[in-house]
Amino acid sequence: HLNPQMEEGAPALRPAACRAKGGAPGFKVAILGAAGGIGQPLSMLMKMNPLVSVLHLYDVVNTPGVTADISHMDTGAVVRGFLGAQQLDAALTGMDLVIIPAGLPRKPGMTRDDLFNKNAGIVRTLCEGVARCCPDAIVNLISNPVNSTVPIAAEVFKKSGTYNPKRLLGVTTLDVVRANTFVAEVLGVNPRDVSVPVVGGHAGVTILPLLSQVTPPSSFTQEEIKYLTNRIQNGGTEVVEAKAGAGSATLSMAFAAAKFGDACLRAMRGDAGIVECAYVASEVTELPFFATKVRLGRAGAEEILPLGPLNEFERVGLEAAKKELSESIQKGIAFVNK
Ligand code: NAI
Repeated sequence: HLNPQMEEGAPALRPAACRAKGGAPGFKVAILGAAGGIGQPLSMLMKMNPLVSVLHLYDVVNTPGVTADISHMDTGAVVRGFLGAQQLDAALTGMDLVIIPAGLPRKPGMTRDDLFNKNAGIVRTLCEGVARCCPDAIVNLISNPVNSTVPIAAEVFKKSGTYNPKRLLGVTTLDVVRANTFVAEVLGVNPRDVSVPVVGGHAGVTILPLLSQVTPPSSFTQEEIKYLTNRIQNGGTEVVEAKAGAGSATLSMAFAAAKFGDACLRAMRGDAGIVECAYVASEVTELPFFATKVRLGRAGAEEILPLGPLNEFERVGLEAAKKELSESIQKGIAFVNK
């Protein structure tokens, strides 16, 4: 692997210098797609996380530079880079948490489903690596279309006999981050004090914010509900259009992924009461996958929380979300089994 600390001519490292400082029970984290628009800031944020003792950065391009750069940050995690398919197994061996932002992002006019052909194969290959090298790792899947890539990952793990639904989490945190921000704007409060559950999936109408369940309890006019729902569902497109061909959300996504990854690590450490929204195998609806609040624990998504009471507007939204989700799930499953 590309370990900038092990260049020729460098003195051998003393063992203590290779370990995370402070005696924290560090976790080993791999980021697949680490040189990308999300991958780079996400790598930086995970290098800042005191729960990370080893950080593996994998991509098919540019990891030497990103790894050298990140490795100079004076935080505890030891950083190692891995480049290209032949180093995938080394990148994954021994990992506790694998975060996957590999794959093409949208350009203006594209839906997330337009990415399917390219990204489905990438996710399959990377998940085959997880099954081979770190089958007990928790996987945070970011690559779009998440509504289909999570079912793809599940099928790959089933085929290899390593599937544990608790350990496979589709990352929908950016929808929650956006919802908190936009709702706080309307309410005139600090976004840090707002929590909006967002359920369903991660594309268009499948992104279903439950404004009736916002904490602190808040009431909205019909006009506000329509505006907020529409803005939360189209937050990604807002960024894609503003970037005008240069990609989709990367910085806010890296922030969201770092937040979600940190929640997973704290839960793996044994912290209690950690609840986040995520797209997981679920029995909350008749669909095999659905995003709701989940309670995270040492084993991953240990409890899938119910939807809670919905109002009429949300019930209508739920039906639209389920219709689209069902097709995206089938498409993902069919891709692996064709
Ligand atoms: P990007 O194109 O800037 O970076 C993607 C990286 O993946 C590149 O460095 C590329 O070399 C790498 N890559 C491609 N094939 C690979 C392979 N086989 N193995 C490892 N790495 C590989 O794209 P960006 O903006 O970072 O987005 C990444 C993905 O995240 C996209 O699919 C995008 O749609 C998705 N996304 C998901 C969000 C969510 O809320 N879940 C939000 C925003 C983006």
